Amino acid sequence: MLAYHAQTMHSYLSVRNKSHFMDWDHQPRQFKIYPEHFKRIILDKQNPKHQFFYLIGGLTAQKSYPGVTYALRTNPSAGALYPTEVYVQIRRVEGFIDGIYQLSPFESSLVLLHALDENEGIESFLGMKKVDGFIFLFSALYYRSSWKYRDRAFRYCLHDTGHMLGTLEASCMVHKKTYRILYGMDKKALNSLFGFGTEEFFLSCAIVGEETSCTCKALAMQLSFVNGTGTFESNTLIEETYRDTCELSLQKQTTQPSFHLDQERFKQAIWRRRSIRDFTQKPLSKEEFTQVMDFINEPIPSDCDVKIDIYAIINRVEGMWQGVYKEGVCLQSGDFARKAGYLCLEQALGAQSGVTFFLVGKDAKNYQAMVQKAGIIGHRLYLISEYLGFGCSGIGAYYDEEVAEFLASDGMVLYALAIGR
Ligand SMILES: Cc1cc2nc3c(=O)[nH]c(=O)nc-3n(C[C@H](O)[C@H](O)[C@H](O)COP(=O)(O)O)c2cc1C
Repeated sequence: MLAYHAQTMHSYLSVRNKSHFMDWDHQPRQFKIYPEHFKRIILDKQNPKHQFFYLIGGLTAQKSYPGVTYALRTNPSAGALYPTEVYVQIRRVEGFIDGIYQLSPFESSLVLLHALDENEGIESFLGMKKVDGFIFLFSALYYRSSWKYRDRAFRYCLHDTGHMLGTLEASCMVHKKTYRILYGMDKKALNSLFGFGTEEFFLSCAIVGEETSCTCKALAMQLSFVNGTGTFESNTLIEETYRDTCELSLQKQTTQPSFHLDQERFKQAIWRRRSIRDFTQKPLSKEEFTQVMDFINEPIPSDCDVKIDIYAIINRVEGMWQGVYKEGVCLQSGDFARKAGYLCLEQALGAQSGVTFFLVGKDAKNYQAMVQKAGIIGHRLYLISEYLGFGCSGIGAYYDEEVAEFLASDGMVLYALAIGR
């Protein structure tokens, strides 16, 4: 097990003993805004070319509490803190200047950070030849999350970035594009080119385009630092864990997922996606559960396809025995709804769902890729639930060791999610 994962486990005692003061007056900003002198392309939601970008983390709703208003997005986020930032290199795409852009959800715009010379690009940092099309880069501004979740926040940065990759996958599906994810890239060099301090770091990228046979030279860009959080407190454990987990061993998956869904209905599901807050406890059907499993088990093309075990606690599915299932096999039958709720830090979501999922992995050497993949699977769960007319919520808080013991697994519990009506 990765030491970081073990150090950031929740237990019944740890959540009761660790008191943590939340400084609401100094909450980090959720949007990184580049200075005005950078040119913008304002995204027009009616323009399909722009909509492709808009679906990747774009704003879809607002939620207000006394004194705070959150802008909600196509991606969910632990605590609605949104640590993930998205950048994109665009080359030879009609209607866009070749360049490096930031995708700004706050302004609904693409901010041109650097216009590309014909022979330069970020490809050399990814070990690739010139790519015509899009190369998306995903980073995390970790203090947005560590402000609340402290050391455990590195996990949330990875989940959230996985969800953002999930929004990219969904947008590609709607816009009939193929994609593949790369976790293996020269992150240190890219962090420096983009002018990041230690508070922001790249985690992954996605290629949506064609690799040509031409080489190109390394991007000659040096951006100045832009403060993306306002306030910042460094976290040594997170920064060290990031550095220690940047290397990975390659396990390529080249097959594209094949989703057979109604495009228009799926698009609506992307726009409407929210985290369900209460379940009515009406059951799902066995057919719906099967559709969910088929959807989430489609391949995820990437250079590091880590195995993730998906455990499903069936609480309310008509036509199925209650119990713990893995890969279609019932490991333990019985009513574990209350137990599942308890394991999710006593959250009712875990007990009242149709199904509560736990995603587990063992590959500590590929930790960054593994937890992001859990986030992508989580995103698929959200979208297929919305599409089929019920709901889903991510659950990042659970008693790690007790979950593993309950599942009789020696792996790392990476993420929990609940689906149902
Ligand atoms: C990684 C992750 C962990 C989450 N953990 C919880 C949780 O433990 N409990 C909960 O009620 N919601 C949880 N959520 C849901 C968020 O609170 C929700 O995404 C956020 O408030 C934004 O709302 P929206 O998803 O409706 O857009 C989680 C979401 C993510 C992505």
